[in-house]
Amino acid sequence: MLIDGKKVSADIKSEIAATVAQMVADGQKRPHLAAILVGHDGGSETYVANKVKACEACGFKSTLIRFEDDVTETELLEAIDRLNKDTDVDGFIVQLPLPRHINEQHIIEAIDYRKDVDGFHPVNVGRMSIGLPCFVSATPAGIMELLGRYDIPTRGARCVVLGRSNIVGKPVANLMMQKAKPGNATVTVCHSATPDIKEICREADIIIAALGSPGFVTADMVKPGAVIIDVGTTRVPDASRKNGYRLSGDVDFANVEPLCSHISPVPGGVGPMTIASLMKNTLLAARHEIYPAV
Ligand code: GUN
Repeated sequence: MLIDGKKVSADIKSEIAATVAQMVADGQKRPHLAAILVGHDGGSETYVANKVKACEACGFKSTLIRFEDDVTETELLEAIDRLNKDTDVDGFIVQLPLPRHINEQHIIEAIDYRKDVDGFHPVNVGRMSIGLPCFVSATPAGIMELLGRYDIPTRGARCVVLGRSNIVGKPVANLMMQKAKPGNATVTVCHSATPDIKEICREADIIIAALGSPGFVTADMVKPGAVIIDVGTTRVPDASRKNGYRLSGDVDFANVEPLCSHISPVPGGVGPMTIASLMKNTLLAARHEIYPAV
């Protein structure tokens, strides 16, 4: 069965839009999400444009702050400081990756954790890892939402996470092992130093592939009936497309799909859920549901 992230994401956005309409009718201000975008990386441009569009669909105010590739760390830190202090801004994100001369960790740690709707600040990461209320980063939150909405059994399931990035692999592994529903799985994290990845995957009831390696998960790695969540979004050159590329997931979809009970496609699976989760976090920030008013 296909896991339709596009549909679930649209449902979530209309739930949010209804809540926002009620807030505005009650005289409250619209939620406000700001984004900082550095440079002109194609992927980042697309993500940020989609975030701005999603804000419109949800009835949020959005602000986009752009810098060129040669921005200094000091200039970025000043922009973050302004957003931290701006009482109209409920939450903001700094689109990653940043140019190499910028220390990403300095930037992330400069964000007020109470406005960190990406959930990348160590306070939010730490609180998530011990199961406290926090902003959960958008892609892992979107994956958990899909597992929940499709009622996929996770308790006691063997879950293999491929990849250990701070943005996806580490947090989703953490969420999958929390005593929660969905969650409560037995989690194995595989990465570039793991031998026997194929054998480990073959034992999995759930595979979450977040490596950025097109077609990495092949049919011989999948147990019949397994659930496959594909987080890959690599741009592969494709002359037949008008933009010159197509998005490729980490799973050999054509050969794996007939084997599994559920699979999320690329595009239209996890990608749209990331945006919906960011909108949800922004609503939580605007309503001060995680942290008291800044
Ligand atoms: N780059 C890739 N994914 C993300 C994300 O979820 N948030 C931000 N800020 N940058 C990203």
